[in-house]
Amino acid sequence: MARRVTVYEVGPRDGLQNEAKVVATGDKLALLAALARAGLPRIEATSFVSPRWIPQLADAADVVAALPAVPGVTYGALVPNAKGLERLEDALRRAGPGHPPVTAAVFLSASETHNRKNLDRTIAQTLAELEALVPALRGHGLEVRGYVSTVWGCPYEGAVDPARAAGIVDRLLALGCEQVSLGDTIGVGNPDQTRRILDLLLRRARPEQLALHMHDTRGAALANVLAGLEAGIRTFDAAIGGLGGCPYAPGASGNLATEDLVYMLDGMGFETGVRWKELVAAGALAERLVGRRLPGKALQAELARAGG
Ligand code: HMG
Ligand code: MG
Repeated sequence: MARRVTVYEVGPRDGLQNEAKVVATGDKLALLAALARAGLPRIEATSFVSPRWIPQLADAADVVAALPAVPGVTYGALVPNAKGLERLEDALRRAGPGHPPVTAAVFLSASETHNRKNLDRTIAQTLAELEALVPALRGHGLEVRGYVSTVWGCPYEGAVDPARAAGIVDRLLALGCEQVSLGDTIGVGNPDQTRRILDLLLRRARPEQLALHMHDTRGAALANVLAGLEAGIRTFDAAIGGLGGCPYAPGASGNLATEDLVYMLDGMGFETGVRWKELVAAGALAERLVGRRLPGKALQAELARAGG
């Protein structure tokens, strides 16, 4: 098994978009700097979606204009449409030449109802928009990641046939997405299901073209990561401290916590390049910024050990 794994940090975007508290721009930049110092090679910093839909990330342009430059770190931002691309381009112009590398990410769902709730479009309409958007992003020199949500299950429709995700992955790769991240958006998956999904998808994509994006709502995220590792996947998304969760669903947790993922990978001898002490410091900072204890288990164990 190849021993190198990419931990793709999504806390500043997927985490903060779900927090009830809006974190100030300067504090977001401090968190990004702490994550970069921890050696995370990929950090999704923000999202150029409608600020009416996600007010927590309304300052996306200010964040991208001031991203901390750290060698080896590439940042990411969600871009849902042409308006999002225009805003990202403006922000990069403000950042000036020599800004840190930034990639774009587009997203849609494997289930129709979730896609409509999230993007106000059918899947077919979204794919039609992406036919223009992905080449436009690439035309601006941006690497593009694709996300497919609700691959393991949909909050509105329940079970989702993996063939639906497969069809979308085919389209995204054909459009030129470097990698497609498969989302267990509501954390309902189990390892058997993960094996079945990857068995189907790895017939059409190389392992490095796929990533797993597990939410840890029901505690099975790491088990699903292990199934992914065994199938050859080497990129996993995670959020510092397990940030996120729905403010309107008490007890619901966010993404797999970065510390939990890194702790397991380190113990298994995988190389991530992530520095543990600095990662825990970033987790402690994230807690201070959102003003609550975060659910990441390895973070809490480490803070308890340190008497924090
Ligand atoms: P819409 O209302 O259909 O947009 O929303 P529209 O095209 O009809 O435009 C309406 C107004 O919004 C216009 O302004 C546009 O200019 C403006 P007006 O003329 O009325 O003044 N507008 C924008 N403003 C700023 N930035 C933009 C933008 N686009 C339009 N980019 C839209 C369509 C896609 C914008 C909306 O549905 C949206 O923002 N959705 C995003 C929802 C979201 O961010 N969800 C979370 C991210 S996905 C996720 O978390 C899943 C993932 O983590 C993987 C997983 O877990 O599965 C990735
Ligand atoms: Mg997500």
